[in-house]
Parts: sequence; C-alpha cells; structure tokens
Amino acid sequence: MARYLIAMTGASGAIHGVDFVKRCPGEKWLVMSDWARHVLQSERGMKPADLEPHVKSVYRDDDLAAPFSSGSNRYDALVIVPCSVSTLAKIAVGIADTLITRAAAVALKERMKMIVCVRETPLSTIALEHIARLSRDGVIVMPVAPPWYANPKSLDELVAGFTDKLLSVLGEAPAGKAWRQDELE
Ligand SMILES: Cc1cc2nc3c(=O)[nH]c(=O)nc-3n(C[C@H](O)[C@H](O)[C@H](O)COP(=O)(O)O)c2cc1C
Repeated sequence: MARYLIAMTGASGAIHGVDFVKRCPGEKWLVMSDWARHVLQSERGMKPADLEPHVKSVYRDDDLAAPFSSGSNRYDALVIVPCSVSTLAKIAVGIADTLITRAAAVALKERMKMIVCVRETPLSTIALEHIARLSRDGVIVMPVAPPWYANPKSLDELVAGFTDKLLSVLGEAPAGKAWRQDELE
C-alpha cells in the first residue's frame, strides 16, 4: 500500500486539499499550516478534525519532532495541495522551519517524489523562478488548474477533475472519468 504525506497550506482552494485527502488511496498523513486551518474554516466551514477520519493522523505545522522531519521515515510522495507562494518560496531557497517545509527539504535531499500544487494568480517573477528551480530539481509543479474539457456539471465535478489528474500523476487510478483509449489514439 502506498504511503503519502499530504500538506495543506494557506493558499485559497482548500476544497482541492479536502477532496484529495478524501479520495487518495493508501496510508495518508496530513500536515496543515496555521493559515491552511484558517482558510479551511473560511472557505469550507470545516475544521482539521473533520479530516481526521480520512488519514492516520493530522500534524501541526510547528511539530518539527514529527516523524516526517527525518529522512529515515520514507514514504511514496509528498503532495502539497494547495501550496501558497510563501511555502513555495521557502522550499525553493531551503528554509525548513516548519514541518511542511522541513518535510519538503527532506524530500529534496532524499530525492523523494514531491508534487506542489501552487495556487496564486497572477504569478510574480519570483514565484515563477521558484517554480522553475523546483521543477529542475525533479519536483512536479501542478498549478491548481482544474480541467474543463470533461464539461463538469458542478463544482464538485470540477474539483474531482483536478484530483483525478493528481491521482494519475501519482500512479493511482483516477476514480472519476478517465480518457477512453480511443480518445488517446
Ligand atoms: C482567505 C485567504 C486566501 C489566501 N489565498 C492565497 C493564495 O491563493 N495563494 C497564496 O499564495 N497565498 C494566499 N493567502 C496568503 C497565505 O495564507 C499567506 O501567505 C500565509 O503566510 C501562507 O503561509 P503557509 O504557506 O505557511 O500556509 C491567502 C490568505 C487568506 C487569509
């Protein structure tokens, strides 16, 4: 069974983190920054405790004694969804003063898979440079850009479309509509 560390930060789009936490298979652990908790409440009316049933545990971002602060604790991928440009910047320059940024620093040094779902618009040159830097280091940068080509009929379907893409990048079969083989040819 795959093991995933999921991080939510204080970017808008908590709905994407929530959907991913719920639908990603495997063993999952969740870290939420202080601002992620704030945005979760303001955008979804939810508390971190609402996500506890879907993961093994929810960590505070100041819990640098958590297992994921150490490279000895390996897992299959770190997924940051949504990722603020602040967290993006810290990761890109090597600041590791929170559990999320420390886990990212560990993932980089240990060459572990990392997916960063940046959410900001427009993007500054600084943010674009940070994206390029991480991408060159093997990080998969997936801006929160839900697909419209499946003609979503609702917000839930639109959000599910982005989660499907995230799951397919992780190598997990998407639970939603996948491309038919004849559409690929
Ligand atoms: C309602 C709300 C929406 C926000 N949306 C974004 C956003 O879309 N992208 C972003 O980079 N920051 C956004 N921010 C700002 C971040 O929360 C802020 O930079 C914070 O310091 C990020 O810290 P974190 O990355 O540790 O969560 C938003 C803040 C609030 C309160």
